[in-house]
Amino acid sequence: METIKAIMTRRSIRAWTSEPVTEQERRIILEAAMNAPSAADARPWHFVTIDDPGMIKQFTEMGGTEMLAESTFLVMVCGDESKEIYPGFWPQDCSCAAQNMQLAAHDIGIGCVWVAIYPLDERVQICRKILGVPEAITPFALLAMGVPNEVLPPEDRYDKERIHPNKW
Ligand SMILES: Cc1cc2nc3c(=O)[nH]c(=O)nc-3n(C[C@H](O)[C@H](O)[C@H](O)COP(=O)(O)O)c2cc1C
Repeated sequence: METIKAIMTRRSIRAWTSEPVTEQERRIILEAAMNAPSAADARPWHFVTIDDPGMIKQFTEMGGTEMLAESTFLVMVCGDESKEIYPGFWPQDCSCAAQNMQLAAHDIGIGCVWVAIYPLDERVQICRKILGVPEAITPFALLAMGVPNEVLPPEDRYDKERIHPNKW
């Protein structure tokens, strides 16, 4: 798929079949994550991969996350401040990795939704506990994936009111 087409047609998918995400697909998605840009190329990230149904079920109890029961592959993107070169950029770096994952998943026919974790303290603590994430590492975003069981149309969100040529 062309990059622009992938960007313009990606939607958040929250319904999945029981078919697993293959090893090859997982590899592509995680490679895309780690090819993201980051401040000073610090790559302050870790990825916890989850495909155990019992583990996945635990994330359905955070409130508003019931749809995760259908997901077959979760990736928790975690921030590692100790790897930063310029302090403070890790959420932006992790966001770049997460968006790369969403686009790579879409490109290969895997449906993905970003579930907010950081900076929601309660969710950060719940995820830390479920996954045993060390104190120095911050659970940042949960990417829920699977073979899509819904098709959502592209949306045209271009808004020229948000563009300020040369000066605000
Ligand atoms: C930082 C961030 C947090 C999000 N958190 C959630 C979430 O907790 N639950 C959810 O169902 N979708 C979540 N989403 C997905 C958004 O709801 C979705 O991207 C938005 O409604 C636009 O729809 P689209 O992704 O289909 O284009 C999140 C997206 C981002 C970027």
